Amino acid sequence: MSEGNRFRLEILARPENVGIARLTAASFAAQIDFTLSEIEEVKVAVSEAVSNSVIHAYAGRAEGVVVLEGHIENGGLIISVEDFGKGIEDVALARQPSFTTDPERMGLGFSFMEAFVDELEVRSQKDKGTKIIMRKKPEAARGQCRPGDDRGTREDD
Ligand SMILES: Nc1ncnc2c1ncn2[C@@H]1O[C@H](COP(=O)(O)OP(=O)(O)O)[C@@H](O)[C@H]1O
Ligand SMILES: [Mg+2]
Repeated sequence: MSEGNRFRLEILARPENVGIARLTAASFAAQIDFTLSEIEEVKVAVSEAVSNSVIHAYAGRAEGVVVLEGHIENGGLIISVEDFGKGIEDVALARQPSFTTDPERMGLGFSFMEAFVDELEVRSQKDKGTKIIMRKKPEAARGQCRPGDDRGTREDD
């Protein structure tokens, strides 16, 4: 029913717009068979990606935009978060847990994104911007759990 559905949302890269992105992503994700805790995971991952565009991408520059897009394909969710800011010099390093260029921060944004989606792709070019692409399928649609992966099977989380 929702197969093939899409949305595109452009917001100014301001902290007060992170919640708009989070809620839009959540209501789009609710069109497919995610559990409430899986939708919470989508919200956290999208918040982290959009916050990064707000905090890091346009630091010290003119106000920029963030484009959030969603697509339902093969029963799964694809969400992208794109900015046109300064880019990430070393993506592999930026994705390391606790790596941050801002000592006030924890450097865990990418770790949360990785933990909460099935696939995380980071495309970035210096002075051109960054695009984060996240793919996630409902646990129910993934069939058997992978060995050692007990997400979605506990009743207490
Ligand atoms: N959209 C972005 N544009 C520019 N740099 C980014 C972007 N997203 C992440 N980064 C860089 O990657 C680092 C790690 O990001 P993250 O794991 O979210 O940690 P934190 O935001 O706490 O620093 C950031 O400190 C920043 O240097
Ligand atoms: Mg971050």
